[in-house]
Amino acid sequence: MRLVDLFAGCGGITLGIAQAALANDLALEIALAVDFEAEATDAYRRNFPSAQRIATAPVEEFFDGALGSEATLAERRTANELGERGAIDILVGGPPCQGHSNLNNHTRRVDEKNALYLRMVRAAEILAPKVVLIENVPAVLRDRHDVEGVVARAERRLGELDYRVEHRVVSVDSLGVAQTRRRHIMLATKRGEVAPASVFEHIERNEIRHDLEWAIGDLAHVVGDDPRDRPPQAKADNLERMRWLLENDAYDLPNDRRPKCHQGAHSYKSMYGRLRWDQPAQTITSGFGSIGQGRYMHPDLRRALTAHEAARIQGFPDYFDFSTCSTRAAMATMIGNAVPPQLGTAVFSSLFSAGSFAKMESEEPTAAMA
Ligand SMILES: C[S@@+](CC[C@H](N)C(=O)[O-])C[C@H]1O[C@@H](n2cnc3c(N)ncnc32)[C@H](O)[C@@H]1O
Repeated sequence: MRLVDLFAGCGGITLGIAQAALANDLALEIALAVDFEAEATDAYRRNFPSAQRIATAPVEEFFDGALGSEATLAERRTANELGERGAIDILVGGPPCQGHSNLNNHTRRVDEKNALYLRMVRAAEILAPKVVLIENVPAVLRDRHDVEGVVARAERRLGELDYRVEHRVVSVDSLGVAQTRRRHIMLATKRGEVAPASVFEHIERNEIRHDLEWAIGDLAHVVGDDPRDRPPQAKADNLERMRWLLENDAYDLPNDRRPKCHQGAHSYKSMYGRLRWDQPAQTITSGFGSIGQGRYMHPDLRRALTAHEAARIQGFPDYFDFSTCSTRAAMATMIGNAVPPQLGTAVFSSLFSAGSFAKMESEEPTAAMA
């Protein structure tokens, strides 16, 4: 199977698909991965050295045409490089989500970044893959890029291209990830293939749950030269807050112990919070190394999470190599931005085990592109 991963980051989705392929005795070829951050493509290259092409460039350089229009020069070049039309089986991507994210209260819903969502649909028009997966934050559903919103627009256009399309919000804590991160998944499969609805049903029936102890219990006292394991440093006031939480066996910091500017009613309860062993963690962001950024205090220790712990909570196996990151901040961003691989594993294991992927035929050019 040949894969194209756009907005690929370090390759969380790719890793999940690779794991699903391995478990189903299928060979996966990474034909193209694109991200415009060199930090991301360096990490991707380190972890997927056999990928045929990893491009540090904007996705718009590969797919720059309007939906429904004839292929542009750049798009014809992309398609030619990737082989015959229909030579790509799987197209996946997680366009950036700052525009829709609830964590970014100050950005309006109408944001240029939201339009990048539709680059995935354009890539589907050009490549005619058998399966398309677009990952995003749940708030993408509230996007109003056009009057219609990007999700409805994507669904409608993929339908016109003869895909069956379903989209759901999935919480990764039902997929065996020790984290309550919720993601919006749009899944499209060519008509005649496994219907996306049955993929989501399969995932729902095969729930796997893990708590924080399962994910990071063994890392509490890991020390070593690996920068991933370096404990984050805290300022005196945060050290004092953590001491108070441990001594009082508390998990939420009372209002009067928070900084003055965080004492208002609007302040998030989870800020300065302590994690619980017997529950999944909250969403991991690039701020996992500071308790002032969310509930990131270790359950037993006077520190926030290490990069190693955050990567585990994001579902990454220890062999996944983040060492190409040039700084601690770059590593934190890479880990925080990543998609838990289990998401790709769940969707594609379900498709592969339904057994129909192997019989998928190359697609004929669609009317729009002929
Ligand atoms: C949410 S992360 C993707 C995570 C990734 N899909 C995974 O599986 O781990 C979004 C990525 O999109 C990249 N990006 C944002 N805008 C881009 C653009 N216009 N072209 C290429 N990459 C872009 C960012 O650098 C970032 O790595």
